[in-house]
Amino acid sequence: SIKAYEIIREALRNGAKVFGLATGSTPEIVYEQLINSDVDFSDAISINLDEYVGLASTHEQSYQYFMDKHLFQYKPFKASFVPNGLNDEETEVVRYENILEEHPIDLQLLGIGQNGHIAFNEPGTPFDSVTHKVELTESTIQANKRFFEKEEDVPRFAYSMGLSSILKAKKIILLAFGEEKAQAVKDLVTGTEPTEEIPSTILLKHQNVTIIVDEEAAKLI
Ligand code: GLP
Repeated sequence: SIKAYEIIREALRNGAKVFGLATGSTPEIVYEQLINSDVDFSDAISINLDEYVGLASTHEQSYQYFMDKHLFQYKPFKASFVPNGLNDEETEVVRYENILEEHPIDLQLLGIGQNGHIAFNEPGTPFDSVTHKVELTESTIQANKRFFEKEEDVPRFAYSMGLSSILKAKKIILLAFGEEKAQAVKDLVTGTEPTEEIPSTILLKHQNVTIIVDEEAAKLI
């Protein structure tokens, strides 16, 4: 997390203006590092990867709420964009694609799902996908239910930036911590050909990706 924090700080110093941000437990310490630093995002833009469909931004499990709580309330950006889970699909897809077109991402922070998903792009998502509505897989619902009171409370759909949009970022940092990510890390770093069955392997097509893992997540490589 400290390494990722340093890369973000360095990018900002070198003129990066648009930061693609992620939620989940993985980037929490990165955000903590940023909060406790003198980093100033007041001239920068943030664009988040995804949001649950049906959750208002004030809902405690919404990704907007997560970002406010873990970063934005302490380190405000000039503008911050998170998909709006209350918009209908057509409206949201157009709105978010316009945002991405207007603000090309300089540095994208990514976590990874146990099944190799990035953002909410589940296995089988076309590599040329743009922002879209996703039906979450059982594996993702199981992994994310820990944040909800009951499994039934986990939303079944999300809006997610597409894989082609993620690949447009100039630089990408992917973080994976803990042994439950070990297989996904192995599939990514030992992959030779990108395959839509493992969404993260689209990163093999990108020229500037840094993957940061802890020992447990690296135990199969
Ligand atoms: C969710 C998010 C992803 C995140 C993944 C891993 O499904 N949509 O962006 O990378 O979970 O989450 P965690 O960091 O909590 O393991």
